[in-house]
Amino acid sequence: MKSTKDQPTVFVIFGGTGDLNWRKVTPALYNLFLDNWLPDHFSIIGSGRTKLSDDDFKKKMLDGINQFSRSGKADPEKWATFSEHIFYQAADLNDAETYKEFGNLIKNYETEWKQEANVIYYLAVAPQFFPVIAENISKSGLAQNPDKVRIVIEKPFGHDLESAKSLNQLLSRIFQEKQIYRIDHYLGKETVQNILTFRFANLLCEPVWNRNYIEHVQISVTEQLGVQDRGDYYEGAGAMRDMIQNHILQLLCLVAMEVPVDFGADEIRNKKVDVLHAMRPFTSENIKNRAVRGQYGKGWIEGKEVPGYRQEAKVDPNSNTETFAAVKFFVDNWRWQDVPFYVRTGKRMHQTASVITIQFKDVPHLIFPEEATDSWQQNRLIISIQPEMSIRLQVQAKRPGVDMVINTVDMVFDYKGSYDNQAPEAYETLILDTMQGDQTLFMRADQVEAAWALIMPILNTWESKKSTKFPNYSADSWGPEVAEALIARDGYHWFTLPKKE
Ligand code: BG6
Repeated sequence: MKSTKDQPTVFVIFGGTGDLNWRKVTPALYNLFLDNWLPDHFSIIGSGRTKLSDDDFKKKMLDGINQFSRSGKADPEKWATFSEHIFYQAADLNDAETYKEFGNLIKNYETEWKQEANVIYYLAVAPQFFPVIAENISKSGLAQNPDKVRIVIEKPFGHDLESAKSLNQLLSRIFQEKQIYRIDHYLGKETVQNILTFRFANLLCEPVWNRNYIEHVQISVTEQLGVQDRGDYYEGAGAMRDMIQNHILQLLCLVAMEVPVDFGADEIRNKKVDVLHAMRPFTSENIKNRAVRGQYGKGWIEGKEVPGYRQEAKVDPNSNTETFAAVKFFVDNWRWQDVPFYVRTGKRMHQTASVITIQFKDVPHLIFPEEATDSWQQNRLIISIQPEMSIRLQVQAKRPGVDMVINTVDMVFDYKGSYDNQAPEAYETLILDTMQGDQTLFMRADQVEAAWALIMPILNTWESKKSTKFPNYSADSWGPEVAEALIARDGYHWFTLPKKE
């Protein structure tokens, strides 16, 4: 890993006063600072429309750290040192003067540090501002050194295939691909990164990781929360765009990819993109049997009544937006032919959990007496991404006793039991990787487009055919019946981890 300690760095955070910076980006920078990952010379320039003094901005950032940092409330001394590096610059994103000002600030730092700085432009803004910021960075000559300047783009990257392509085209006119860091924060999660390690650092996995041994795969990312105050964004997105196009397809790629030759960013991303290219296309005929949608109605969650989606703030009372989606994917290649990958995601579900389950085929021949195998279960590998961070292998074992009874038991690798140190937040990993120029955990242009291309037929069909059944699941449920039917038709059911009290 390249050290960044001697690389002076300026972070320019567009959307500095926004939620994302307040909750995630600045707390992540603070933790990187605490863990001594930030360079000796660094500056964080928050920028937003609001006029704020440096001190007011710092106060807001401190509040974010106190509320959201994994390391808890800020230590006053550490905060005092860290906050010396924070500045605020009110900005009109359309105005060339704004960018000139950034240029001057950067130059001043460089003079002070007597060294050219790495500059990271972090776009924590709504997607309609991506083009204008990128264009203005370019016009103001702030993107001239491809080895020093990087741009971080938050999701959503495009609204559909066309818009993703045109954003890619615009960015590629200004930046080289090696400068563009498209965030999918799931890739920064510790447990998600561990999928690669688990698969490729252990001899045991690879021989059985294919259609000869694996019956089907499930990826379930469910959330108890509703849309909260993001109704305006979510109305134009829905579960398919918000979660499946990016996070869930990335998880699927990590499970399904071929063995990379090495750990190089492009090698890994090549293998992931191969999966997307191998995925069975959706056609108007097969969509009905392979993709279903839902929208939550009102209900009760942990003793509190919660509104239905259509009653949420900034949501159309007749909204056709899906808050739940389940899809059956296939990867048409030698490894996975005809192995279904079922994915589901939804808001206001019974449980918040992101879990990948790999169900193996049954043993070819059962040698045990029937009465011993009442609770027989095929082997399952369960990778729990959050909130539980674990990998469990469910195997059959003889229950202790004089008679022969077979039970399913879990062999568990639990992060909490195995490691004392706290896992970093996804944003810490991703920001550090950006500083180090490591793009492994970021989306490449072709990946984003391949993911959009795959799901466009579903989106188009759903948009053209309004659902007459919405709302079709109540808050605190496991989603609509159509999702149960989707998987039950093939003889399976959705798996869940037991809820921890
Ligand atoms: C975001 C989505 O990308 O991921 C949100 O826009 C969703 O709607 C969130 O709630 C889930 O992320 P996490 O890390 O809480 O699982």
